[in-house]
Amino acid sequence: MPYNLLKGKKGIIFGALDERSIAWRTALRCHEEGAQLVLTNAPVALRMGEINKLAEAVKAPVVGADVTNMDDLKKLFEESMKHFGGGIDFILHSIGMSLNMRKGKGYTEIDYEWNKKTLDISAMSLHRVLRTAWEMDALSEGASVVALTYIAAQRVFPDYNEMADAKALLESVTRSFGYYYGVKKKVRVNTVSQSPTLTTAGSGVKGFDGFISYAEKMSPLGNASADQCAGYCVTLFSDLTKMVTMQNLFHDGGFSFTGVTEAVIKDMKE
Ligand code: NAI
Repeated sequence: MPYNLLKGKKGIIFGALDERSIAWRTALRCHEEGAQLVLTNAPVALRMGEINKLAEAVKAPVVGADVTNMDDLKKLFEESMKHFGGGIDFILHSIGMSLNMRKGKGYTEIDYEWNKKTLDISAMSLHRVLRTAWEMDALSEGASVVALTYIAAQRVFPDYNEMADAKALLESVTRSFGYYYGVKKKVRVNTVSQSPTLTTAGSGVKGFDGFISYAEKMSPLGNASADQCAGYCVTLFSDLTKMVTMQNLFHDGGFSFTGVTEAVIKDMKE
């Protein structure tokens, strides 16, 4: 049920690849809540053409931008501000990519050139987005920026590989830039730490099926879905959370604070 929480707000959504993407689900939910949107993804992802279906559904233009390219980001913000006729109220950063994982390299044998690229795409890209907005004064007073992360930033999940380091960096950029943008313009910057979710990026993690069912059993509320994550992001984009910033917010059905569950103990006995 829509609550009109984003009526009159204007936002940019990064990272809708296909209909399973968390960004895709979030774009649909933001649209339902009354927001106007611009969609963006890497040019190579746009070539798949899927995003045009979403663009039609949420009545949004699509602007290609490789998030590691500052000229692309500048063009994205210019076009978005032109489209909206003013500043931007919210941004979803829903981007992740591990070159070492994709090429089958384990954590103890990573290639450092690929690792640099992974950190740039998955973490420093948030700095690049915020810096571009900062230099162009593209965000409205009290705007909200949310990036998606995973608990492997705090605890070891072996097959999450170099992405654990990328997420730790992403969460640190969130706090550091969140400080500066808060002081400058009351802009909020937070990460949402989501349950494992069946998407293209998610299924790139080795042993993901076993892992997702373990997390389900280890969470008192079960795993949070992409649609539920979208709903949480909407609250963070809304005016109801104006004083929440520089936080890593767990959206994981209670997984992060559970030591063990009866369901897991039962499995171990068998
Ligand atoms: P997804 O594969 O649908 O989305 C990842 C997006 O990153 C894609 O749209 C891809 O095109 C984009 N991307 C990759 N390189 C890019 C570049 N150079 N420039 C611009 N965009 C680029 O997968 P999902 O799961 O929706 O991922 C979204 C975010 O959620 C990621 O940050 C991911 O790490 C995070 N997350 C995912 C979880 C999962 O289990 N699926 C759990 C917790 C966090």
